[in-house]
Amino acid sequence: MHRTENIKEFAVIGYPLDQSMSPILHAEVFNQLNINATYRKIEISKQKFFSQLSQKYIKKLTGFNVTTPHKKLIMDKLDFLDPIAEKIGAVNCVLIKEGELKGFNTDYFGFDMSLKKNNIEVNGKSVLLLGAGGVSFSVVYALIKNKTSKIVIKNRTENKINSLIDRFGSVNKHLEMSKYDESYHSLNSFDIIINCTSVGMYPSIEYSPISSNQILPKHTIIETIYNPIKTQLLKGSKLNGAKVFDGLDMFIYQGLASLDIWLNENISETIKYQNLKKKITNQLC
Ligand code: ATR
Repeated sequence: MHRTENIKEFAVIGYPLDQSMSPILHAEVFNQLNINATYRKIEISKQKFFSQLSQKYIKKLTGFNVTTPHKKLIMDKLDFLDPIAEKIGAVNCVLIKEGELKGFNTDYFGFDMSLKKNNIEVNGKSVLLLGAGGVSFSVVYALIKNKTSKIVIKNRTENKINSLIDRFGSVNKHLEMSKYDESYHSLNSFDIIINCTSVGMYPSIEYSPISSNQILPKHTIIETIYNPIKTQLLKGSKLNGAKVFDGLDMFIYQGLASLDIWLNENISETIKYQNLKKKITNQLC
């Protein structure tokens, strides 16, 4: 029997959180490794985010994940910012120590690990990136680390594309970064297409960020969405003969890396990964 006074409390903070499987992921890790801890969802809207952060129920957490729409906002309220999170410009993991908030980015690590786990080679490749929100910043950082040569960004809101290009466009002379425009008559010049938008995420699972008619057998399609596992984009792309990868490995690895930070342990290497993945898959549609 666990002693309640030693229980560590964790949470994910965002809005909305219907789609989040983080409590299931962490409950399974706690169970497998006999860790005395809880993990819950805390829904806070953009308007109430700053006022809630200083409340007692947040301050007593050992750590929390930050998700849409707070990954950039949180950076203004931290006492310490990890240098990698600073380079990326987004925080998805916060450690609370002696009342101080310390911000990290584990999304980039999750994406990097999912490339490795699935043997996806991005070195020298041309990427079409869909979306320019918080996740896009982490994905671009991982792509640059893995020597992608060209990143073209397509997003509904244009000024967010400029922010991405301003941050990363000049950091590597072998990288070309630009906006997608009408001069691309087809997607033939791209090797890899990555969805970093929330289009197609539960509960709006019938939508796709681009028409799968445009997808070619030469393409590798990578989702950052994991709920549902097979999004409309992945289903249509697979029918067109493309190689497709869901967002589940990225999700699991960002969660494990968060635990490594919070507990100062090497949980991502000690966990039985396939058992954990199976548990989560069973809960998803
Ligand atoms: P995250 O931190 O998960 O990236 P976000 O910052 O809210 O979340 O970004 C969500 C991404 O999905 C953005 O690129 C957003 O486009 P805008 O920058 O135009 O808001 C994109 N997105 C969300 N809903 C969309 C929709 N209905 N059509 C097109 N793009 C959408």
